[in-house]
Amino acid sequence: MPVITFANTKGGAGKTTAVLLLASDLAQQGYRVTVLDADPQRWISRWHQMSPQNDRLNVISYVTQASIERHISENLYKTDYFVVDLPGAQSPLLAKAIGLSDHVLIPIQGCAMDAQGGANVLELLRFLDEKGGIRVNHSVVLTRVNSMVTTRALLAVKMLLAERGVEVLGTPIIERAAFRDIFDLGGTLYTMDENRISNLDKARQNARAFAMEMIRRVPLKGTRTLSSRFVSAA
Ligand SMILES: Nc1ncnc2c1ncn2[C@@H]1O[C@H](COP(=O)(O)OP(=O)(O)O)[C@@H](O)[C@H]1O
Ligand SMILES: [Mg+2]
Repeated sequence: MPVITFANTKGGAGKTTAVLLLASDLAQQGYRVTVLDADPQRWISRWHQMSPQNDRLNVISYVTQASIERHISENLYKTDYFVVDLPGAQSPLLAKAIGLSDHVLIPIQGCAMDAQGGANVLELLRFLDEKGGIRVNHSVVLTRVNSMVTTRALLAVKMLLAERGVEVLGTPIIERAAFRDIFDLGGTLYTMDENRISNLDKARQNARAFAMEMIRRVPLKGTRTLSSRFVSAA
C-alpha cells in the first residue's frame, strides 16, 4: 500500500495531470488505486465523475489534514497504491501528507530551475529529515517538457539537480494535447480516439514509462507499516 504524494506549492506545476496519468496507468495495469484528492478545485474528482466506472480506481474527494489518515486506514486493504493530489499552496496538510508518504514526487516544469514551489517542498523535506528525523524518499519529475527538447538539455538539468543531491526521474512528462484533453473528455488514454487526438500513442507510451519507473522506485512490498507513518506524521 505505498503512498505517493505529488507536491509543489506552486499551482500550474503539473501535479494534477501527473496524478491522473500515474493513477490511471496503474489501474490500467491491474493495480488497485485510491486517489486522495486534497485539491479544493477537485479536478481529479470531476474527471472521475465523468469517466466510465473502473473498479480498480477509487477517488476520494475533499481530503483534508484532519481526514487523510482515516482515508488511508479505511482503504488500506483494498488499495495497492495511494496517490495524493495536493493544493498548490503551503499548508499544514503538505507536511502531514509528506510524513505519510513512501515517496514524494515534485513536478517541475521543463528546465525552470527557479521553480520556487518545488524548492519549498525540497526545503520542507530537508527540515523534516534534519529536525524531525523523518526521511521520506523523493524525486523531481520534469513536466510539460517540449518533445523537441534535446536529451542534452534535459541531461544538463538533471546534472544541475544531481549536484544539489536531488534525484530526477529518468522519464519526463512531455507536453501533450492528450494530457490536457483527458480532463475534458473523461476516461483514459486508452479510451480516447486515436483519430482525433494527435500523438496519442506517444502519450500512452510516456504515461506507461512514467508509471513503470514509479513501480520500480516504489515497489508494492517493503513499504513502511501504517503505525510507523502515523506516529511520524503526528
Ligand atoms: N504534460 C502536459 N501536457 C499538456 N498540458 C499540461 C501538462 N501538464 C500540465 N498541463 C496543463 O497545465 C495546466 C496546469 O497543470 P496542472 O496539472 O493542473 O498543475 P497543478 O496541479 O500543479 O496546478 C493545466 O492546464 C494542464 O492541462
Ligand atoms: Mg492541481
